[in-house]
Amino acid sequence: MGHKEELLAEEEVTCVGQMVCAVAADTQQHAKRGAAAVKITYEDLPDRVFTVEEAIEKKSFFKPQRTIERGCVTEAFGKADRVYEGQVCLGGQEHFYMETQSMLVVPSGEEKEMKVYLSTQYPAYAQESVAETLGIPSNRVSCHIKRMGGAFGGKVTKTASLASITAVAAWKTGQAVRCILERGDDMLITGARHPVLGKYKVGFMNDGRIIAAEVQYYANAGNIEDESIQVIEKILLHLDNAYNVPNLHGRSTACKTNLPSNTAFRGFGVPQSILVTENMITDVAMVLGRTTEEIREINMYKGVSTTHYKQEFDPENLLRCWEECKEESCYQSRRNTIAQFNQGSRWKKRGVAIVPIKYGIAFAEGFLNQAAALVHIYTDGSVLVSHGGTEMGQGIHTKMQQVVSRELGVPTSLIYITETSTTTIPNACPSAASFGTDANGMAVKDACETLRRRLDPVVQGNPNGTWESWIKKAFFQKISLSATGFYRGHDLYMNWEKNEGHPYAYFVYGACFSEVEVDCLTGDYRNIKTNIVVDIGRSINPSIDIGQIEGAFIQGMGLYTLEELKFSPSGVLYTRGPSQYKIPAVCDLPLSFNIYLLPGSTNPNAIYSSKGIGEPVLALGSSVYFAIKDAVAAARKEAGLSGPFSLDSPATPERTCMACATPFTQMIPASKPGSYQPWAINV
Ligand code: MTE
Repeated sequence: MGHKEELLAEEEVTCVGQMVCAVAADTQQHAKRGAAAVKITYEDLPDRVFTVEEAIEKKSFFKPQRTIERGCVTEAFGKADRVYEGQVCLGGQEHFYMETQSMLVVPSGEEKEMKVYLSTQYPAYAQESVAETLGIPSNRVSCHIKRMGGAFGGKVTKTASLASITAVAAWKTGQAVRCILERGDDMLITGARHPVLGKYKVGFMNDGRIIAAEVQYYANAGNIEDESIQVIEKILLHLDNAYNVPNLHGRSTACKTNLPSNTAFRGFGVPQSILVTENMITDVAMVLGRTTEEIREINMYKGVSTTHYKQEFDPENLLRCWEECKEESCYQSRRNTIAQFNQGSRWKKRGVAIVPIKYGIAFAEGFLNQAAALVHIYTDGSVLVSHGGTEMGQGIHTKMQQVVSRELGVPTSLIYITETSTTTIPNACPSAASFGTDANGMAVKDACETLRRRLDPVVQGNPNGTWESWIKKAFFQKISLSATGFYRGHDLYMNWEKNEGHPYAYFVYGACFSEVEVDCLTGDYRNIKTNIVVDIGRSINPSIDIGQIEGAFIQGMGLYTLEELKFSPSGVLYTRGPSQYKIPAVCDLPLSFNIYLLPGSTNPNAIYSSKGIGEPVLALGSSVYFAIKDAVAAARKEAGLSGPFSLDSPATPERTCMACATPFTQMIPASKPGSYQPWAINV
């Protein structure tokens, strides 16, 4: 990652949850007793920083801060009919993968070899990290990963640190050492999604056109940099979401705080960025007394356009998704029905929202857009495939099997995907940025094409033969039945000094309608209906992709409406298990939940015209948040309140109830709608 990281605290412990030592023992119980016997006396750090507000005050930032500018906001604010300033806070999110961080390090006893079996999205990084920690070359360390029990971005970097510490124990004892974090420790130690505070100033015309926006993001990075700079960069790249704002200025800062270091999480800053942008749009609508959907439509990109970083694109499919979503969800008639319902109901209010998305795929750090594969054909005709992608439940292995089947013309039953290993595929890039299938699919295809070319003469010699007969023949003719494949992906880049770049290979577009019913007396809500339309090109496997869309949406809904990390005033994480931290359950599913894949979409930039779909839809979970906000606005009307109001994310029942401003919550002294409980540090 280009910066050194302390594995164990050396001079100073900078957060509660930072590791100070590791205890190795013959059983888990003994290890726990050993760890409990370690007595440490701490002195409080003099200048502790927990929230972004404190970080701003003390200028506690990681460098660099990033800015981006298009047009001239200052001039445009002067021309705007109205200027409004607002802000929204968004809390972090625990990855809550089913399988916690797990690894087994086995010293082979020969030439300092170490075999590491671990649950990671980035085996090459773990390999490098273990080798560097032990002071041995990478060729002595092999990392092996069959599959992960979920990862969601939380197993890109953090696993490497734990694997390195475990490797030291294996090195010192000469024994195989296993490390599996218990849920509470995993939640405490390994960090989460970055909480973000977004402050904005927006200039707009009375007809709804936004002509200028100035947005400042502060992300709570925690005590170690990790991937925080890349996260704040991605926040800025998605500042426009689906809107063409001619004058735009964004600034993004990673705050260094005394909380556990936050890390990558599905969406990588985009879900935070989109909440801020969409909240700004909602405020504009509320100031003008119009629906948010009208303001969204007025400002949406139309015709071939350029983003604020000067990447050209055609938003046609964005607009198609939007229109189709409106049609499939009968948006106008739902709005009318809801208005009637709200008139006749004092304590239950309904709300709707449609949120669009334009999500960039691939790594802005161009060198990460590469992949390799290795394909063997055995003499019985069976095929063994190894590629650099890791399986975490997103279905990459199934898709790779489909690619091989299509390229070699053999049934998937003959194809087996073996573990991901640094011995078969060296220097593989992480399975992240929703780019796994795009990159590895092309590498696998390349290997298969080589094999196909070698086999062609044999097939032509016996066109009516079977696959098995051709393979046997090829073997007897001394034709190599093993091939590597390589994909040299897009040369993407972002030049922050020049405010321009081409950081994405292409965009995934989508739109999501949600309708909710809020109980204004408790703040509890029910998601009545969600309709999602997504442009995913020509899907390689629609069943997998629909599963990804459903999963990402529900995880997003959790982020924006349920999941809340709570810290004590001295920075101790309270929420360390499912009894304290609520993730979505079956009862939280929308009563009616429909996914539509946009027909007739193609994509020349990815394998078989498909599109990466692992992350984009998570941000569409915000449609539930904005539908709640719409319902709350109806409740506030009854209290004689109109115009923009603050509702921080997640819109938990407590916050929603307070924002409804019923006569009952108004009686609570000093309660402000949408305010934080004083004991919980959220950003
Ligand atoms: N789906 C499941 N079931 N489990 C996961 O951990 N991770 C997501 C997404 N979908 C994840 C998942 C993340 S963070 C990414 S980047 C993409 O899958 C990776 O998918 P890809 O290999 O298609 O790029």
